[in-house]
Amino acid sequence: MTTQGLFTLPQGVVTVSYIIATILFILALGGLSNQETARRGNWYGIAGMTIALIATIFGKVSQNYDLLIVALLIGGSIGLLAARRVQMTQMPELVAILHSLVGAAAVAVGFANFMDPEAHFAGVELTIHDIETYIGVLIGAVTFSGSVIAFGKLSGRITGNPMLLPARHWLNLLLLIGAIYYGYAFVQESAAGGGLNPLIIMTVIALLFGIHMVMAIGGADMPVVVSMLNSYSGWAASATGFMLNNDLLIVTGALVGSSGAILSYIMCRAMNRNFLAVIAGGFGTGGGAAAKSGGEDQGEVAPIEPLETAELLSNAKEVMIIPGYGMAVAQAQHTVFEITRTLREKGVNVRFGIHPVAGRMPGHMNVLLAEAKVPYDIVFEMDEVNEDFPDVDVSVVIGANDIVNPSALTDPDSPIAGMPVLECWKGRVSIVLKRSMATGYAGVQNPLFFLDNTRMLFGDAKATLDEVLKDL
Ligand code: TAP
Repeated sequence: MTTQGLFTLPQGVVTVSYIIATILFILALGGLSNQETARRGNWYGIAGMTIALIATIFGKVSQNYDLLIVALLIGGSIGLLAARRVQMTQMPELVAILHSLVGAAAVAVGFANFMDPEAHFAGVELTIHDIETYIGVLIGAVTFSGSVIAFGKLSGRITGNPMLLPARHWLNLLLLIGAIYYGYAFVQESAAGGGLNPLIIMTVIALLFGIHMVMAIGGADMPVVVSMLNSYSGWAASATGFMLNNDLLIVTGALVGSSGAILSYIMCRAMNRNFLAVIAGGFGTGGGAAAKSGGEDQGEVAPIEPLETAELLSNAKEVMIIPGYGMAVAQAQHTVFEITRTLREKGVNVRFGIHPVAGRMPGHMNVLLAEAKVPYDIVFEMDEVNEDFPDVDVSVVIGANDIVNPSALTDPDSPIAGMPVLECWKGRVSIVLKRSMATGYAGVQNPLFFLDNTRMLFGDAKATLDEVLKDL
């Protein structure tokens, strides 16, 4: 069944539109790198994508418009519904599952392209086309299965503990050799008119590799994996662009792929991890052993009430607020803003210290604080404030745990060993807001809670901060 398009844009217009869209995507990435320009960056991205869609629909597609419209309506509605329903705390899972769709699309396009009866390649062109298809399907399948597992881990459907198979590195090597061998077989057989079998076998190998890679990640190292899968999804899109001969998809995919790779590198540096070790898997395992549940108590904790917290804050000169995942769960950012404003009016110097992997996605805390209109100039990155803690009177740790865990620096067997943390215990007093003595994402107890200069303010962060605000 084919239906002809109503009209087709001239190729010159499509090319110019693609160039404009590319420039807008680059501006979008530039804008998103800074909180103050992030909103503008988003608009650039939306404009670029709108232009790209219109140019592709009316310039590249010449038949099957009815199928296209149905697909757009179904996909668009699901996307709209998911975006409206998703809670802020579920964003990382949504991003992971969206990455899996990019991977699945690359696999589907690869197979469709390979089996296209109208494709007529021969000689070197056929070999190049086959290699493009093979690599596209390979990256797509790894991205797909890896992202599905990441989704499972982030949403708690799959255990966060690393699954470490014996001789896992050998297994990875075996899968890699298998993928190369079947790649060779695929190119040979395709020249003789076949090739479907090696392509299917490689797809299964790549799916297994994706599962194995992400299942082996544990502790607190998921952030690196999420941004790495983000990068893979970009390369998968780029490979799809090669298969479809679409320049914009190649460039856009490469932009996502390289920016994701840079983000992964930044994450690795922030977590003090080795980039190659992440790709090989078995990460966050405390030197090879699976992370213990680590929820054991380490002594008595000293609780505090909201009234006393308000008094301590009012009498302080220097206050450092350290937000974490729990602030997102409690949606306490607006109360945090009100408290900040009140304290600043009293002449207290309030600053925010943001750990690079606080929360569950890159920039999670910055987004929440920006939403609550906390001024950007009092929000600092960890490295900018970590030296200042000896001069801080009160650190308020709001629903954060792993990112203020001193054992990351002192216990080489900890699953978060080596990760830099916000060293709030060096200040006069730390007040930790959380509901219980439960552990954070890495599943390890936090010695900070048991220190003499730490006070625990138990309860939902929004409820307790509302009390503190009232008392202020
Ligand atoms: P976590 O270590 O996960 O600790 C969050 C704490 O918030 C928990 O101990 C929890 O204790 C508390 N909490 C939860 N809901 C709360 C509520 N309603 N009110 C008050 N407290 C609440 O968070 P973090 O310190 O932000 O560290 C982030 C962790 O996630 C790191 O291990 C990081 O590697 C990992 N991770 C990060 C990312 C990215 S990209 N940022 C992605 C995946 C994983 P209670 O249950 O006792 O309240």
